Order: sequence, then C-alpha cells, then structure tokens
Amino acid sequence: MKETILSYQTDEINVTWDKERCIHAAECVRGLPKVFDTDRKPWIKPELAGTSELIQVIEKCPSGALHYELKHSDRTEQPPKQNVITIEEDGPLYIHGEVAIKDLDGNVVLKDTRVAMCRCGRSQNKPLCDNSHIEAGFKADTSYDPERLRTEPVKGKGGALSVTLYENAPFLVEGNYDLVGDDTGRETCSKKMSFCRCGGSQTKPYCDGTHKKIGFVSS
Ligand code: SF4
Ligand code: FES
Repeated sequence: MKETILSYQTDEINVTWDKERCIHAAECVRGLPKVFDTDRKPWIKPELAGTSELIQVIEKCPSGALHYELKHSDRTEQPPKQNVITIEEDGPLYIHGEVAIKDLDGNVVLKDTRVAMCRCGRSQNKPLCDNSHIEAGFKADTSYDPERLRTEPVKGKGGALSVTLYENAPFLVEGNYDLVGDDTGRETCSKKMSFCRCGGSQTKPYCDGTHKKIGFVSS
C-alpha cells in the first residue's frame, strides 16, 4: 500500500490527508467547501472552520484519506456501533467499522475505521481503491444475494471486523456487519464471506472463483 500523507494544522487540530487514498471528490468538498477547495493551494484550510465542524466532515470521508488528531484532547474517532460494507455502483466496497486488514499470516497491514476496497482488480494501490475503476470502465451494480448471508445466524452487532487478503484471490470478511447496496437494501449478518476483488465474478460482490480463470494478480 502506498502512502503520501500531508498535514494541515490549526492550534487545535492536525488534519491529515493521504493523497494515495483520496478517490472521491464529494463528501469533504460538499460538507465544508470553504475548507476543502480543490481549486486552491493548499486545498485544505482547516482554519476556516471550527474543530467540531471539521471532525464531522472528516469522519464522513469514505476512503479514509482524511483523518485528524486533536492537540488538546485524547478524543479520537470511534468506530460505528455496527460495521457497514457499502457497495458502490461501478466502484469499490466501502467499509466503515472497526476494520483490521490482515495478510494470510494474520499480520495486521492496516487498521482503520474507513477504507475503500478495490473490487475492479485494477488498482495500483491494492487492496485499496485508487479510482482505476473509472479508466477501466468497470461496471457492477449494487445488488447482492441476501440469502447467502443468512446461512449463519446473526451473532451480534459491531466489534472487530477482520478482512483477510488472500493472494491472487478474494478477501475474507469475518465479524458482524451490514451489507448495503441501493439495488437490494440492507442485510445484517455475521456471515464469513469472500468478496471478489478481481472484478470478474458473476456473483458480485461475492467471489465465485473467476480469479483463477483470469489469472488475477493481487500484488
Ligand atoms: S471525502 Fe475523502 S476521498 Fe472524498 S475527496 Fe475528500 S478526502 Fe478525498
Ligand atoms: S476474487 Fe473475483 S471471483 Fe474470486
């Protein structure tokens, strides 16, 4: 995973922005246009808003490109009460929750509350999305088969959500989560599920083994 972190400060807050993870010109610009202005340099001016307004908008950044540290308080961003995986049409899977992305040996490679997982197979920053789906013309609606999530009982809400990366293959999600897609709606589950990240599955967002046939390379 690449990382290019720039920092923007006031006396109260340090706003960080990871250029490599920023994919989505909407939430921040729409939420606080005076602070986040892509036609200006620097494009982030935290001094133009109050700290609580900044926090509200930063915590909506779906890719996790934006984060903050408070200089005079221990308060930090808390994960939501339930983990949520949102299917973006023709784009990534957004995960909002207590996320730990792990390699096959169980080493945590990224801990975060917000991540955008590549599902077109073309990102140069795998497993994270880098907007390559746009150039690749990736097409995928937001429907899913809810029945496949109902084969295990719901064990609770929230808590740690583990995302294990399989080499040249999907990622496995374990924990409690809601899967959300505009075309199907919301399903609460605790189902261990493999999600496609090669872009080729016929049963998106789930893996159907196509990654082997198309020789998907995840590194
Ligand atoms: S909300 Fe996050 S991903 Fe979207 S433009 Fe702002 S920093 Fe980038
Ligand atoms: S990762 Fe795409 S079908 Fe398995």
